[in-house]
Amino acid sequence: MKKRVLGVLLTAVMAMGMFAGCGPADTGAPAGDAGTAQTADSGDTSTPANPNGKRVAVAMPTQSSERWINDGNNMKEKLEALGYEVDLQYAEDDVQAQVSQIENMIAAGADCLVIAAVDSSALVNVEQQAKDAGIPIIAYDRLLMDTDAVSYYATFDNKGVGTAIGKYIEDAKDLKNAKADGKSYTIEFFMGSPDDNNAVMLYDGLMEVLQPYLDDEVLVCKSGRTSFDDTCILRWSQETAQQNCENYLTGFYADEKLDICATAFDGFAYGCKAALEGAGYKVGEDWPLITGQDAELMATKNIIAGSQTMSIYKDTRLLADKCVTMVQAVLEGGEPEINDTEQYDNGKKVVPSYLCTPVAVDKDNYKEIIVDGGYYTEEQLAE
Ligand code: GAL
Repeated sequence: MKKRVLGVLLTAVMAMGMFAGCGPADTGAPAGDAGTAQTADSGDTSTPANPNGKRVAVAMPTQSSERWINDGNNMKEKLEALGYEVDLQYAEDDVQAQVSQIENMIAAGADCLVIAAVDSSALVNVEQQAKDAGIPIIAYDRLLMDTDAVSYYATFDNKGVGTAIGKYIEDAKDLKNAKADGKSYTIEFFMGSPDDNNAVMLYDGLMEVLQPYLDDEVLVCKSGRTSFDDTCILRWSQETAQQNCENYLTGFYADEKLDICATAFDGFAYGCKAALEGAGYKVGEDWPLITGQDAELMATKNIIAGSQTMSIYKDTRLLADKCVTMVQAVLEGGEPEINDTEQYDNGKKVVPSYLCTPVAVDKDNYKEIIVDGGYYTEEQLAE
């Protein structure tokens, strides 16, 4: 993992070339449980040929979770295969570092910017600079808010992620029949970052399914923390999720078991797992249902081992493919693939979007979806 991060870093630093002082922020090590990235690292840091003479800058939020490493690698690979020069940089969840990186990308002559924001509303000025310089912007995975400088948005159906998690819980616990059967389950929520529009949409989708069960007390949230504001976790921090879960277990659940950790991210599931282990919960005995998102390698291993129940598989190769069609459209002309022109209003415009379909994975279908789909091999999952 370290080698891979170093490889990515070196590539980013090389791509930065002579722009001293504008390299990526200190990356630190990836979060302990984040697992190994899906794409093999060639370790090749040479600057590829640039036959079409165009430069695409890709600003990614962090290397602390595996998915963004895969996203960055996929984008770089696919764009380079089309002959673009790629400037890939990670901001390590530092908002100001990402602003500086994008300023430098503009100064370095980027022809197109692809941005997965750390804080979706914090880039308004630098986005305006890009617009003034005639550089098109594509929002990657996370919507860029409060700007008319963004041309297109490639993402997953973020509300659909929430409903898929909710429906999974509904089915797994047979909530539709629970009232008649006299059953109820305790649940706590671990929602995403308040500066990420995806997190709000996920919450809305989740609650569309679960709110009726909270209302009729089939689901019981002993902390009382069910609103987005009460359950959101800044910058998707695994550590905060663990801390929150520890607090719940030692407080509200000192005398009663927690049945469901409804989490919005594999990183949160790792945090809950650590907290539950610390509190003495045992897989196969009193282990709760734990949800996640991203189907990271570590999460998929945990699903096989039973310490995480499900995740949402988001094929980052597909997302990169869709995003690349948008880059080609803005740089070469032509129409990108768009399948939504309504949902993603960023406050300044409705951004034409392509929404990839999220898929719930658990121990029953991971082989079919993840292994047969070529996302991870059986060997990677067995390591
Ligand atoms: C969100 C994204 C999720 C997850 C999360 C934390 O924006 O939609 O899939 O990766 O960030 O990185």
